[in-house]
Amino acid sequence: MAQNREQWGSRIGFILAAAGSAVGLGNIWKFPYTTGANGGGAFLLIYLFFVVLIGFSVMLGEFALGRKTSLAAAGAFKAVGKSYTFIGVLGVLSAFLIMGFYPVVGGWAVAYIFKSVSGLLAAPDMIGGVFDGFVTASVEPLIWTAVFLIMNMVIVGKGVAGGIETAGKFLMPILFIILIVIAGYGFTLPNAIEGVKFLFIPDFSKVTGGTFLAALGQAFFSLSLGMGAMVTYGSYLGKDTKLASNAAIVTTLDTLVAVLAGLAMFPAMFSFGMEPAAGPGLVFVVVPQVFSHFGPALGPVFSALFFIALTVAALTSSVSLLEVAASYFIDEKGMKRTTSVILVSAVMAVLSVLSSLSLGVMSEFKILGAGVFDVLDLLTDKIYLSLGGALLCFVLGWVMKKEDLKAEISNQGTMPFALFEFWYFIIKFIAPIAILIVAYFGITSAPQMGLMIAGIAIMVLLGIFSRKL
Ligand code: PHE
Repeated sequence: MAQNREQWGSRIGFILAAAGSAVGLGNIWKFPYTTGANGGGAFLLIYLFFVVLIGFSVMLGEFALGRKTSLAAAGAFKAVGKSYTFIGVLGVLSAFLIMGFYPVVGGWAVAYIFKSVSGLLAAPDMIGGVFDGFVTASVEPLIWTAVFLIMNMVIVGKGVAGGIETAGKFLMPILFIILIVIAGYGFTLPNAIEGVKFLFIPDFSKVTGGTFLAALGQAFFSLSLGMGAMVTYGSYLGKDTKLASNAAIVTTLDTLVAVLAGLAMFPAMFSFGMEPAAGPGLVFVVVPQVFSHFGPALGPVFSALFFIALTVAALTSSVSLLEVAASYFIDEKGMKRTTSVILVSAVMAVLSVLSSLSLGVMSEFKILGAGVFDVLDLLTDKIYLSLGGALLCFVLGWVMKKEDLKAEISNQGTMPFALFEFWYFIIKFIAPIAILIVAYFGITSAPQMGLMIAGIAIMVLLGIFSRKL
């Protein structure tokens, strides 16, 4: 199977596809509201610390594992040892779970492109009510979710170089330009500096154990780590590509876009005296309200551009999630790409319907205290990704041979990686220990502790039955 494997067409194509996976709703939708709720600058500082120390190292580790084995998530772990297959399968499970809510929010983004230009901004006081009415409705959001999922199926159905890479190359530059234009305009508004201060000046009084878990979970989610996406993308890499510099570029791009999204929102928000901690509705409520102040001509244009950017970001990420799940059935079960994409998307569609309805008609239905949407988000963002990352570190640092990793990362010694020893030390000791400490305190202090424990139990069961997978 491995010899006919698809490959990326070019280095820049790979970088943009991997950056496309990383840059997504995590950066533009989640990052600003999580930062807002966790004290602004203090959260950013902790987040950056995790990104530099752990995020970069884990990403490099994922690329290395993927390229070394030339197999997507589950197969890559299986190649290391049968008992580790479950780590890859856990990643496939995470892909399904994330794709159980991601297309819902992606669908909102698509819908808001149209709402922006069809009068949403004309009545700024109603924008909050419009959002609540929209997401709690039964039919309308589902139509947009379907639109979003179909776009994913078309791209992933076209394959790695033809679909995913082309989409990244075309869409990522558009995203950058739109965000820079919006942030630039925000700076020209009165009092914009207050928003900049909020994002960059730390206020440690808001920091708790939960802040660390939020920052770590955000780092893994935002960088697409801990569930095999980067293993899978790495598996399509040629043997002569430099892994470390690619990981550094992707990590940097992802972080830049998160900060840029903050700069596109907070300055304008503060300038109009709005609250940064507005929860998950932040980009769908506060952002259009901000744009409504730009006037009837500019406002709708900026707003539509913003939601195009959000859609683009979401799409290049969700294709990587779909690819992780689809490639499992392609690589491991010998399924055809088209069949696999249709099958996997159907399951994701069912989950997405449930999570969309959980915000409206199904809001009474709770699993261990949380609705379907929140269950899927919490399980992945708060536990599976970071623990998946810890398990990956364990496999890299304690199961695989150090020399093999060194050979892979240095392209068989032809391109030495100067920081190899440091990277290895982080992977072997620092990252797993830090993840376990943060996860322990975060989980034991979480309001949904029962759910978290159930999630861990599922992981353990997967581990026990791993030889059957
Ligand atoms: N990184 C994506 C984002 O920030 C989400 C994602 C997570 C994609 C895990 C792939 C794997 O939105």
